[in-house]
Amino acid sequence: MNSPIKDLLDNNQIKIPKHIAIICDGNGRWAKKKGFPRAFGHKAGTKPIEDITKNCYELGVKTLTFYVFSTENWSRSDKEVTFLMKLFIEFFIKLRNEAGENIKVKHIGITENLSLELIDEIKKTENLTENNSGMVLNIALNYGSRSEIINATKNIMNSIGIGNLNIDEINEELISNYMFTAGVPDVDLIIRTSGEMRISNFLLWQSAKASLWFTEDYWPDFKYDHLKEAIKYYNEADSKFL
Ligand code: IPE
Ligand code: IPE
Ligand code: MG
Repeated sequence: MNSPIKDLLDNNQIKIPKHIAIICDGNGRWAKKKGFPRAFGHKAGTKPIEDITKNCYELGVKTLTFYVFSTENWSRSDKEVTFLMKLFIEFFIKLRNEAGENIKVKHIGITENLSLELIDEIKKTENLTENNSGMVLNIALNYGSRSEIINATKNIMNSIGIGNLNIDEINEELISNYMFTAGVPDVDLIIRTSGEMRISNFLLWQSAKASLWFTEDYWPDFKYDHLKEAIKYYNEADSKFL
């Protein structure tokens, strides 16, 4: 195998996180540094998403989540938002063509304010990949953790209201099952690029026990070596609690 991930796979001391969640940050600054418009950085940022997805799949990661657009990101300029939405349409089309038989693509977040065209491409991609069992790839787009918790709370209340659920049945597992991430393991490792050390309303419930790894590098420069460092950090952090 010539794959770059061979070193990690060959090391049987290394524990591969079941769920890695990545805050892909710094696209705009990456472009600015090169004297290009922000859009250029967003476009460049799709490449590491593809590459890291392949690496994680080969490593045996069960769930990989990318945060690509937050509910707060609507406050950006119309020009930038329009560009991003077009990019997401192309991105979902590409994903379903390249997901093969192994990657199940799922959108997490709300569809409110998304164009019908984008919603349609998301649905097509989800439908086409829904029976794939190798890895779940969550795309957090128009996602916000607090809005997810509000949504879950309303659905729980509704289930109680119609008599399908008893208050005594509410526990951690049940709440997890009312989240957009129902059915996937909790987050083990959160990665954020570009030197910002914030959570930005990302998977607050699911990452209660996650390790956090940060890099100064911008998202378009993210490579397998960064992933490897993050996984090593996760192993060190994890072993302290054994
Ligand atoms: C992350 O890069 C991508 C999105 C939030 C869509 P940014 O666009 O936040 O880039 P910076 O942080 O301004 O450099
Ligand atoms: C967080 O990045 C959201 C995504 C990467 C999609 P931002 O760049 O929007 O976050 P803040 O506003 O700096 O926290
Ligand atoms: Mg940013």
